[in-house]
Amino acid sequence: MADKKAAPETLCIHAGAGDYPAPFGLNTPVVTSSAFDYRADHVRYPRYHNTLNHDLVATRVAALEGAEAGLVTASGMGAISAVFLGLMRPGDHAIVLDGIYGGTIDLIEGLLKPLGMTFSVWDGGPDHLDDLVTERTRLIHVESPTNPLMRVIDLSRVAECCRGHGLVSVIDNTFATPILQRPIEFGFDLVVHSATKYFGGHSDLLSGAVVGRADLMDAIRPTAIRIGSSLNGQDLALLERSLKTLAVRIERQSENAGRLAARLADHSGVSEVFYPGLDSHPDHELAGRQMSDFGAMLSFRLSRNIDPERFLDRLALIQAAVSLGGVESTICQPSRTSHAKLDSKERDRQGIDDRLLRLSVGLESPDDLWRDLEAALEND
Ligand SMILES: Cc1ncc(COP(=O)(O)O)c(C=O)c1O
Repeated sequence: MADKKAAPETLCIHAGAGDYPAPFGLNTPVVTSSAFDYRADHVRYPRYHNTLNHDLVATRVAALEGAEAGLVTASGMGAISAVFLGLMRPGDHAIVLDGIYGGTIDLIEGLLKPLGMTFSVWDGGPDHLDDLVTERTRLIHVESPTNPLMRVIDLSRVAECCRGHGLVSVIDNTFATPILQRPIEFGFDLVVHSATKYFGGHSDLLSGAVVGRADLMDAIRPTAIRIGSSLNGQDLALLERSLKTLAVRIERQSENAGRLAARLADHSGVSEVFYPGLDSHPDHELAGRQMSDFGAMLSFRLSRNIDPERFLDRLALIQAAVSLGGVESTICQPSRTSHAKLDSKERDRQGIDDRLLRLSVGLESPDDLWRDLEAALEND
């Protein structure tokens, strides 16, 4: 078992693992049972998040984020729902960053507002945050970097505001992962993940996680159980295996993304590149202070003489797909995927048009990826 001070590469492989009886070998046994002896020490049941595999993966994610406790859920939205529903009551208010993941906005609009909770949207400007706090504000929910324009927010500033007003700070750390950014070190209380993305890393698994302060996790756990957002044993085992390579995947994928971002920025077929690693990015300096590298997600806007549909058709290696974070590079138009539910005025306000493409850079050779992009960047 790794100690808490071990480096992320070590935690990815060892955190939470026990010494199993010799016949099991080195790997964690996969508990598939959904029925346990109720006369044992405490009632075990997979929906209660308390099998061997639940404990292990939750401990591993918590160790990676430097958190006191954690839960692994059946999806990222399972984790995010458990946080809002576990910590807020009708009449309570929350502040959310402008441009957060569309599914979280859908949760707010379709479920939380009809339940009587209220929300304010923060534009990310450090000076505007305190003004949004009301007597009923319970939490602030942010993402960094954001999707798809990769804006980076000042984590210490958000955590400080929350501490000052007695609010809970929550961040969706899906894009950065704890390999590149550990928000708890900046004072955040809770970190959520779509583990479907980099944690799973192979585009074959749906899962999520929430980790953070033990007292807050105690408040969230009963809600996670009530809404039935627990992950099954087989997928927990798959997630455990994927986490073992998280550090090395993220490091290489980020390096590949940096190279592609620089090449795209120099190409006449591209009018804008959104990647925090570029000097031209408005948050480059802040990202350099908060993150150990700039991540494997980038967006770019095609120039007017390239048709986005034809560009996508011409790509041979990079596949058009809606998710992200896999070992294979994927690309999508946020206007038709994550932001499709917004009305066109709102999309225009956010600068999201059909020419904007979001690239999730994988583990292929960056030279092969560039040849694919360059060949597709021809005038129509
Ligand atoms: C940043 C972010 N958060 C949360 C989610 C939701 O995760 P899931 O699809 O695993 O429920 C996604 C999914 O795309 C995401 O990109």
